[in-house]
Amino acid sequence: MSNFRKVHVKSFGCQMNVYDSHRMADALAPAGYSETAQPDDADLVILNTCNIREKAADKVYSEIGRIRVMKLEAAAQGRRMLIAVAGCVAQAEGEEIIRRASAVDLVVGSQNYHRLPEMIARLREGEKIVDTEFPVEDKFDALAAPTRAATAKRGISSFVTVQEGCDKFCTFCVVPYTRGAEVSRPVEKIAAEVARLAEAGVQEVTLIGQNVNAYHGEGRDGAPWSLGRLLYRLADVPGIARLRYTTSHPRDMDDELIAAHADLAALMPYVHLPVQSGSDRILAAMNRKHTRQDYLDVVARLRAARPDIAFSSDFIVGFPGETDDDFNDTMRLLDEVGYAGAYSFSYSPRPGTPAVELGDQVPAEVKLARLHRLQAEITRHQRNFNTSCVGRTLEVLLEKPGRISGQLVGKSPYLQSVHVMAPPSMIGSQAPVVITDLGTNTLFGALAETISAPALALAGA
Ligand code: SAH
Ligand code: SF4
Ligand code: F3S
Repeated sequence: MSNFRKVHVKSFGCQMNVYDSHRMADALAPAGYSETAQPDDADLVILNTCNIREKAADKVYSEIGRIRVMKLEAAAQGRRMLIAVAGCVAQAEGEEIIRRASAVDLVVGSQNYHRLPEMIARLREGEKIVDTEFPVEDKFDALAAPTRAATAKRGISSFVTVQEGCDKFCTFCVVPYTRGAEVSRPVEKIAAEVARLAEAGVQEVTLIGQNVNAYHGEGRDGAPWSLGRLLYRLADVPGIARLRYTTSHPRDMDDELIAAHADLAALMPYVHLPVQSGSDRILAAMNRKHTRQDYLDVVARLRAARPDIAFSSDFIVGFPGETDDDFNDTMRLLDEVGYAGAYSFSYSPRPGTPAVELGDQVPAEVKLARLHRLQAEITRHQRNFNTSCVGRTLEVLLEKPGRISGQLVGKSPYLQSVHVMAPPSMIGSQAPVVITDLGTNTLFGALAETISAPALALAGA
């Protein structure tokens, strides 16, 4: 069985990074590689890196150090282990990675994963390779489709990349440099991938892209289609019960996408809409190309289309020049929108981005203090939103067994984890669940059909 080898792929980044990890494993399957969850017995370890903040990028080198020890142990047993670094740090740092960490055999940028089988064959001959070009061919065309078995193993919810790259150039962000210019996949190729996933049992598809609502892929008629139009098309694919998309930019939220929220029952009423700051001065310095009011208007239009819609966001605190007043504008925006959740980050200067050159960097302790205040406020918002769900009946897509016997865990339309007593035969179905209680990060509920009228009254429904 000399052709049978194991690959371990570890993701450090966003959803696009996770999707790419799956595609890399899929690309290597025809070359005889099967996936393993453990790095120590792998013949090939791929670290799929993220460069968004300094902490994320630094993790890579400590991880390479850990894998290097395994590589040496394998060599002592006469086994060869290859180490590949892929993803956004690979794209940004290229051969510098091999110079800093000589245990690395391959550095492969985010646009070249379809060439992996050929590169691995060359590595086996003893070469070291760095490939971070942006090639002209479409990597999606060249990438192998996942097998039915691989899809089934990954569960009933799946990501599908529809768009890659970014032309926005926010002054703090590395993505336009590590992922390149915006490119959209054609509508029918996406529809075919979604249909294949549905046949393998996938029920929920999240369309992903660094700027997903800037999507403008070629439609059946040869014209560019918007994300809204794509969603109408995908809602017709048999077997797909739920559609989501992420991450969107406030500027690209057009009428067609807003109408899709009003019209499509499958489109979940939960939108991740990063704002970054509530101060117009800081938004301008970030080159976000939207004001605080533009953002609030988009939120209002979405709420008018779909009154039960909920929002999450990303925030950066301590961008260069951010004053207490600017920060307070952000805190006020939180209250004006009323978020179901959000991510918040302390500004991290990234080499090569324009914001690094700005004076007036905010001291670390000020950033940290603001981050703590913001996070406490986000937690309060999240708790309020979750509390508002108690007593409501939410459709839950049941995904897997829970921690206690007889229990299943699923996702609400708002991406909350919901624990509910239900038979295993219900895995993969949607069921109305009455929310009865809150955990720290989860909701508890009971299948609506198992609850009698008096019990419902007791639960406060
Ligand atoms: N395309 C998405 C975001 C991609 S990066 C968008 O436009 O919103 C995910 C998040 O990381 C960003 O929303 C931002 O909040 C955060 N981020 C990006 N660069 C950062 C930096 N240099 N420092 C701190 N946070 C950053
Ligand atoms: Fe980065 Fe801005 Fe592009 Fe988002 S829109 S990926 S934050 S440059
Ligand atoms: Fe990180 Fe690259 Fe995604 S920098 S956030 S893995 S696009």
